[in-house]
Amino acid sequence: MPSFRFADTAANIAREGGALLMEYFRRRVTVEYKAEADLVTEADRACEELLTRRLRAQWPEHEIMAEEGARHSSGSGFKWYVDPLDGTTNFAHGFPVFCISLGLEYNGELAAAVLFDPSRDEMFLAEKGSGAVLNGRPIHVSRTARLSESLLGTGFPSQKRHKNPNIHFYQSFTMRSHGVRRAGSAALDLASVACGRFDGFWEFNLNPWDTAAGVLLVREAGGLVTGFSGQPFDISSREVLASNGLIHRELLATMADVFAARDLEPLPSPAAWKA
Ligand code: IPD
Ligand code: CA
Ligand code: CA
Repeated sequence: MPSFRFADTAANIAREGGALLMEYFRRRVTVEYKAEADLVTEADRACEELLTRRLRAQWPEHEIMAEEGARHSSGSGFKWYVDPLDGTTNFAHGFPVFCISLGLEYNGELAAAVLFDPSRDEMFLAEKGSGAVLNGRPIHVSRTARLSESLLGTGFPSQKRHKNPNIHFYQSFTMRSHGVRRAGSAALDLASVACGRFDGFWEFNLNPWDTAAGVLLVREAGGLVTGFSGQPFDISSREVLASNGLIHRELLATMADVFAARDLEPLPSPAAWKA
């Protein structure tokens, strides 16, 4: 079983966070709004407090950037991106698809990934150059070679929804694949690409705490992550396109078609649809 310098220790911290999330999940929580459809709960805050306290105790010199506001700067070159609860909307509605995501960067490069799904008890770990595992077993991206035979994932932002063009991409990819799932946790979507459950995933406007761990998992499981034009993935760019590598060219070609507004058909009237 592979062992990891940072991820093994951080996995214990994530497991503790996962137990805390499950306590809140069982008793249901009060929802607050950060924006019109952008939810936050007491569980997000309590879990972030626990995770960042434990990370700081373990590695006092490491920087921290966490979604709900925890920051620690040091100039050490190490930085943890922390999403204490990815999938808050699911969590708040009692839909058990959410996770904790911890991604470690070293001198600007993704170095370690810990992603824990407490409702399935699934722990995904990776370190740069050492591979990726799920509950201790090595994982690999799928071998699906054609977009037409693939299962994809995507997501939609909770802020400025009216400005997001993703529905057009959703339509095109749905027509060209076995289907597109919108499960509600971008970090878990990336983990699903890493372990071969999804063949590809894309999303607009994600933040570094959503992608840091998942992107490294995909890479270490043999997949490819780029921007929407095939450029190298940039954690601050807000474009993520991940795949098993084999269907990446077809994904990029579809993105280019949609950006150029090719292949968009007018909607049929309800009467025409029935016929
Ligand atoms: C959200 C989830 C969702 C994605 C949103 C994210 P949160 O994160 O990852 O799948 O579509 O854009 O904001 O708010 O639940 O941590
Ligand atoms: Ca998130
Ligand atoms: Ca979150």
